[in-house]
Amino acid sequence: MCSKVLLVTLTVLLFVVGDGGGTVRAQEDGEDDSMTALPELPDQVSAGLVSHLCNFSKPLQDPTDLDDDQYCDCDVPNSGSSGLPELHINCRRHRFADGFWRGIEQLPQGTVRLDLSYNELTSVPRLSSDTLQHLSLAHNQIAAVPDKVFANLSTLQELDLSGNRIQLLGTDALAGLGRLKLINLSDNRIASIEVNAFSNALDLHQLILSNNSLGAFFNRTESDLYLRLGVTNRLAILELKRCNLTDINLASGVGLERAVLGHNPLQQLAQLPKQLAHLDISGVPIRNFPAKFLPHLLHLENLTMRDMPILYTLEQYALFGLPRLAMLDLQGSRNLSTIHPHVFGQNVVRNETETQLKRLILKGTNIRTLNSTLRFAFENLRLLDIRGAPLRCDCELRWLRDLPNLMTLGVCVRPNALREQRFGTIEPHQFQCRAEQFWIYTVFNVVLAILLILLVSVGVFLIVRAIRPKPHVQLRMVGPNSPYARVTIEPNRAEVL
Ligand SMILES: *[C@@H]1O[C@H](CO)[C@@H](O)[C@H](O)[C@H]1NC(C)=O
Ligand SMILES: *[C@@H]1O[C@H](CO)[C@@H](O)[C@H](O)[C@H]1NC(C)=O
Ligand SMILES: *[C@@H]1O[C@H](CO)[C@@H](O)[C@H](O)[C@H]1NC(C)=O
Ligand SMILES: *[C@@H]1O[C@H](CO)[C@@H](O)[C@H](O)[C@H]1NC(C)=O
Ligand SMILES: *[C@@H]1O[C@H](CO)[C@@H](O)[C@H](O)[C@H]1NC(C)=O
Ligand SMILES: *[C@@H]1O[C@H](CO)[C@@H](O)[C@H](O)[C@H]1NC(C)=O
Ligand SMILES: *[C@@H]1O[C@H](CO)[C@@H](O)[C@H](O)[C@H]1NC(C)=O
Ligand SMILES: *[C@@H]1O[C@H](CO)[C@@H](O)[C@H](O)[C@H]1NC(C)=O
Ligand SMILES: *[C@@H]1O[C@H](CO)[C@@H](O)[C@H](O)[C@H]1NC(C)=O
Ligand SMILES: *[C@@H]1O[C@H](CO)[C@@H](O)[C@H](O)[C@H]1NC(C)=O
Repeated sequence: MCSKVLLVTLTVLLFVVGDGGGTVRAQEDGEDDSMTALPELPDQVSAGLVSHLCNFSKPLQDPTDLDDDQYCDCDVPNSGSSGLPELHINCRRHRFADGFWRGIEQLPQGTVRLDLSYNELTSVPRLSSDTLQHLSLAHNQIAAVPDKVFANLSTLQELDLSGNRIQLLGTDALAGLGRLKLINLSDNRIASIEVNAFSNALDLHQLILSNNSLGAFFNRTESDLYLRLGVTNRLAILELKRCNLTDINLASGVGLERAVLGHNPLQQLAQLPKQLAHLDISGVPIRNFPAKFLPHLLHLENLTMRDMPILYTLEQYALFGLPRLAMLDLQGSRNLSTIHPHVFGQNVVRNETETQLKRLILKGTNIRTLNSTLRFAFENLRLLDIRGAPLRCDCELRWLRDLPNLMTLGVCVRPNALREQRFGTIEPHQFQCRAEQFWIYTVFNVVLAILLILLVSVGVFLIVRAIRPKPHVQLRMVGPNSPYARVTIEPNRAEVL
């Protein structure tokens, strides 16, 4: 695993008297004798003879030890980018509580990674290191982040505080973290963030605030992520899933490339930065996706709208103003049944603008057919995934089969003749509507109609014949004196008398 040279370097670096090895294990001293066994002796600690987390004098143990024992894994993986050995300390699931720490914990020299996730900490331990880059405190019960608590971790690049009980992020909570690139604050109870809370993190590239109750906070006009909270334009990735947002203003985020805003009761998203390349609004409960829900985003490439629970329709012009859109993912939006023929706008239909759409994912939707007007928007389409949708493979869908360079994944559900057949294996001429499909019935119908007409004519002829006077009867003029003349017979008067 580790080269001998590296181990020697490590042992020298850490002044360790031991037989060396890829993995050195440490025994966590009991809480009782810890006060004597580990007095607060920063010199000794920093010299590496004893560490609170790693016991380097302990001989190499089996690295396949169970995770729930009393030791942290103190591991020296193969490569250090600087050439110096790097120490990774893994204390995941060690039931560490607050009492474990005594004052400031000086981490062993060369520590680059420290994982304290899934422990029982209720406050942030005071750590000190000039090499630490990755720190995880995820899934503890930390309720607050005190001011400047990370001040002695100036080299930190990634901080994971997810899955705790933090309610408020103070102005100075992240003070001193000038090189921080990623902070994960998801799954907390953050309802409020103080002014300039992120302004120290000048390099912040990725901010994760998902699953916090920030809807009411970001509803206030003065709660702008950029202008008020001090997030810089270096921020490229922002995650705000499940935050109960009805709207958010990100217009000042000129560096933002990816925004994950899914599972929020969004009404619209009018204020997004222009160069956004990837937007995820999965799970947003809207019924019809209207025009102007999104602003014009000239650089948007990927739009993800998975599992929209009550989405039925993409209305006309809903995807207008997204000229670079290459991937549209509607997977699992089970109620979606209608895509308006002009969803990309009239310009596309008139062939005035071209779309870049290359991948369209309609897997698991309720789409039965697609209007042939959409072919103008599908000119660059390479992949259409409609698996699991109740496709009706009739003449109205033939245009799709005729598109060159398009791979369509899906199975026909109707008509019965094509049931269960893969879309791509069906010949274009097999896409037929009922009338053309059963031409023999058509002929039959025509014959029937002719017969019917014949029958009716015969009937009419017969009726006419029946009521017409006999052609052999000769008519003679009847004069007044003729015996055939009309005679008026008076009623018999004798009866009246
Ligand atoms: C470190 O491990 C060695 C060997 O198992 C043990 O003798 C020593 O007491 C341990 N040190 C501490 C501080 O626990
Ligand atoms: C940082 O280290 C200095 C000196 O070791 C110490 O005085 C200070 O309290 C430490 N700060 C924190 C937040 O641990
Ligand atoms: C942030 O934390 C959550 C919860 O622990 C985790 O699921 C997610 O993968 C983390 N994100 C990143 C980018 O580390
Ligand atoms: C949201 O966070 C809470 C803890 O605050 C957690 O119990 C829950 O599972 C999270 N929800 C999701 C969908 O991750
Ligand atoms: C935000 O404000 C709008 C109207 O101003 C309101 O309808 C909505 O419920 C608010 N959202 C939250 C999460 O408070
Ligand atoms: C979400 O915001 C609405 C107001 O728009 C509020 O009534 C509701 O309680 C909030 N839900 C949560 C889980 O915070
Ligand atoms: C868009 O999605 C594709 C895969 O579907 C991925 O390769 C590409 O990097 C994504 N682009 C952005 C800007 O996220
Ligand atoms: C479709 O919408 C109805 C309500 O309009 C809802 O009851 C149903 O659960 C939705 N279907 C899915 C798969 O979410
Ligand atoms: C649209 O215009 C382009 C050239 O501008 C042409 O190559 C393409 O065939 C046209 N498409 C249709 C459907 O007319
Ligand atoms: C497709 O859309 C066009 C334009 O809206 C409409 O005229 C036509 O009737 C539609 N075709 C079908 C088969 O619905």
